[in-house]
Amino acid sequence: MIRIKVPATSANIGPGFDCMGLAVSLYSSVDFEKSEQKLVIQGCPEEFQNEQNLVYQAFIKCCNYLGQDVPNVKITIENNIPVARGLGSSAFCIVAGLEGANQWFKAGLSKEVLLDLATEMEGHPDNVSPAIYGKLGVSFIDEDKNVQTVHFDVDQKLQFVTLIPDYEVSTDKARAILPTQMSYREAIYQVGHAVALSKAMELGDLKLISASIIDKMHEPYRSQLIPDYDTAKKICESANGTMYISGSGSTMMAIVANEEDAKQIVTETQKDFPNWNVYHLNVDTQGAISEVI
Ligand code: HSE
Repeated sequence: MIRIKVPATSANIGPGFDCMGLAVSLYSSVDFEKSEQKLVIQGCPEEFQNEQNLVYQAFIKCCNYLGQDVPNVKITIENNIPVARGLGSSAFCIVAGLEGANQWFKAGLSKEVLLDLATEMEGHPDNVSPAIYGKLGVSFIDEDKNVQTVHFDVDQKLQFVTLIPDYEVSTDKARAILPTQMSYREAIYQVGHAVALSKAMELGDLKLISASIIDKMHEPYRSQLIPDYDTAKKICESANGTMYISGSGSTMMAIVANEEDAKQIVTETQKDFPNWNVYHLNVDTQGAISEVI
């Protein structure tokens, strides 16, 4: 049996809208086994136990890329990444399916190739890049339509706390609410903040992170779709942390510089929002990994 384990990913990180993503230590896995039947899927809601399943679609895509017939397969999903909350649940499915086929055929596809295939499926690289490589990824599509990605180490003392509301924000709505233009002045603001933020994460400089994480492209608009945004922000800031909207929401991610502050955010959030999922996480440094069991 082949097991693929993939980290949750948190895209945007304030000014890195559609370019940056961070891999965090919340994992989901998919097992791939030989099967008598064409397809067996278990471990996910019944509505996803069919050929449209995203893990299976990615598995097929990789088989096709390799020029191999799609084998009969039993797929067992153990998903700990909440769906439609901005933590890369679709990136998990895509990366697991592609890597599952890569391992199945012992094809040895590089991470670069997997990233190209994953980006074709996902439409953008900001989640799939850190899901494959770990760490903090910065990605863009170049003039030849190839995905370019670089990765920054994140200082190990930084801690991350997910504040996951018990409601979704639809990605379509979160994109529709954005303006269609921005001024030169704001573009300059974004570029400076995004570049400084990457270095600040590497240095673990929370003061610089707090200054550079402020975004003008999406967060001021999308915060209107999260009714508890201001309260969550106050909780994070009162524990010396900073906060951003993870992906297109509804999850908000706190960044702090020590365990104690992270624990305070967990406690305060659980008190105010007992139905939310609050996880105290670290950065993931490996990205997707496979094992043969
Ligand atoms: N970067 C995209 C967005 C999706 O914010 O809309 C992230 O999954």
